[in-house]
Amino acid sequence: MRACLPLLSVSLLLALGCAEEGDPTTPPLYPVDFAATYTEVRDCRPTNDHGFGSFIRVYANPEAAAAYTAGSYPFAVGTTLVKGIYVDERCTELESVSAMKKVGAAENSASAWEWQETAPSGAPLADRKKLCTSCHTSCTEGRDMACTDP
Ligand code: HEC
Repeated sequence: MRACLPLLSVSLLLALGCAEEGDPTTPPLYPVDFAATYTEVRDCRPTNDHGFGSFIRVYANPEAAAAYTAGSYPFAVGTTLVKGIYVDERCTELESVSAMKKVGAAENSASAWEWQETAPSGAPLADRKKLCTSCHTSCTEGRDMACTDP
């Protein structure tokens, strides 16, 4: 019983210390080697999304890439879109990753997707799902929640 209190305080401190980061046990929605295993569907360009880094490149899981580039909606369940956010204009130095994964069949529905932000390592950052969906509901233009112009 005696050992419980110190243990408890250590985990409490750890929990508090990691407040801005996400739950470390949450796996990334996408493979961390996405640049090698996913298909590039939008090339390197400046972002339109101020406040989320400077340059971006968009990748999709290989099964979904053709639908993304052709704009055939709705996307299939399992579609995983990865936005690499880079420091430099050639998109070589990754700063963070935003990812969205389709988990429900509904078209143009924020709740049909899972939303995640991670560090380049794949470690999840704090959950800002409400922020993601507020923007993606308005910039999507009938593209089943996807915002990036061709
Ligand atoms: C301020 C508005 C805004 C917010 C907030 C936002 N996005 Fe986006 N998102 C965009 C825009 C605009 C694009 C188009 C690419 C660009 O210009 O960066 C985009 C593109 C993307 C893409 C590439 C796939 C596509 O075409 O939509 C993913 C993945 C993505 N966002 C995920 C997220 C996640 C996850 C969050 C929350 C952590 C988020 N976004 C928050 C505006 C936003």
